[in-house]
Amino acid sequence: MEEATMEKLVSLSKRRGFLYPGSDIYGGLSGTWDYGPLGVALKNNVKNIWWRMFVEEREDMYGVDAAILMNPKAWEASGHVTGFSDPLVECKKCKRRFRADQVGEKCPECGGAFGAVRQFNMMFKTHVGAAEDEASVSYLRPETAGGIFVNFKNIIDSFHPKLPFGVGQIGKAFRNEIAPRDFLFRAREFEQMEIEYFVRPSEWDSAFELWRENVHAFNEAIGIPRALVHELEVPDNERAHYSKRTIDFEFDFPFGRKELYGLAYRTDFDLAAHSKASGVELRITDEEGKEPIMPHVIEPSFGVDRTVLALLVAAYTEDELGGEKRTYLKLNAAVAPIKAAVFPLLKNKPQLVAKAREIYAELKKTVPQIMWDDNGNIGKRYRRQDEIGTPACITVDFQTLDDGTVTVRNRDTGEQMRVSASELSSIIR
Ligand code: GAP
Repeated sequence: MEEATMEKLVSLSKRRGFLYPGSDIYGGLSGTWDYGPLGVALKNNVKNIWWRMFVEEREDMYGVDAAILMNPKAWEASGHVTGFSDPLVECKKCKRRFRADQVGEKCPECGGAFGAVRQFNMMFKTHVGAAEDEASVSYLRPETAGGIFVNFKNIIDSFHPKLPFGVGQIGKAFRNEIAPRDFLFRAREFEQMEIEYFVRPSEWDSAFELWRENVHAFNEAIGIPRALVHELEVPDNERAHYSKRTIDFEFDFPFGRKELYGLAYRTDFDLAAHSKASGVELRITDEEGKEPIMPHVIEPSFGVDRTVLALLVAAYTEDELGGEKRTYLKLNAAVAPIKAAVFPLLKNKPQLVAKAREIYAELKKTVPQIMWDDNGNIGKRYRRQDEIGTPACITVDFQTLDDGTVTVRNRDTGEQMRVSASELSSIIR
């Protein structure tokens, strides 16, 4: 079996409507990607599973959806204005810029010498309101976490939760990466699914262990194979400025073993900093008659786009079926953008088409992610569905008109079984 290469994945993604380069007709915009119809379906499935698992199914979790534009004071307090930067070098000869930790001694483009390394802040700056002066500067959030910390007091006031509890959020984050690369892996606009889990200071390590397990449980739920995920204890000098302990969950991408998710112990760094800068009390009284405490935070952070990329990499398969080469996405049914496709065996037989339409419409009521296809011969339709990871193909043929049964073909094995059309909805579900 052939492995996924980035070239093949990028090409399949574009051809079949998963992902397009951002602003494609203008030659793209570096570091941006647009999700097509199948990509957005896959991505929404990932986000919905995460939200259900970590917010809706738990009693100790609250969801928020905070604004992307935030008061710049929040990013001053969190240390991002001064500290959220990557090392940058510029070639003295051709003036091209690179991330200092990703190049050697000489410019890879022209062989010129580099100037001194300087720190490049990755936050996107903008102006809020009609005046474009220093006072109107704001930033697009570089992590969704910020929107959670500034709502900590609101959640406490509305819901009075007891420790430990967490707040989850899914949303866009923006980083002016010096060198966006590797498809969705390093983009300038991307999405995160983040949790800030607030605990008593003495309980941070047990909470850290629980979230470590939860990260693996999520991967299992969406079908990222455990064998491709590796934990890395991030050394002191490489951790983010707010973290006392970080584990990276790395994935075997075609371009190397790289960070998929992070799990950090942010101590009370953020709440203490926001409390000091805003003047708002963020300590909470957890037990009657006890001194108020500043909770500590465990933060599991999941990149949505890296999850989509890891799913595509893990699913991409080339094999031979019935003596013919084929490419297919072995996606877990829970994330597959289309759960089943319905075909009339022949396009030019009105009775078959009408029956197939009826079955399609009925099925779509209970399982909305269903596709209709009557284009080309059955073999071609199977290949097309295989390539986008559809787990089941349902064919309506002449026997259907006699006895109400249809064939259901399994994507991975190519095997078919005959079932009654009335059972389809429960089979596909
Ligand atoms: N709040 C913690 C935080 O933002 P991070 O390790 O900088 O930590 C968390 O980012 C996750 O966000 C990463 O593990 C990755 O999945 C995703 N991510 C970060 N930068 C990204 C980028 N430039 N493109 C795509 N995903 C990115």
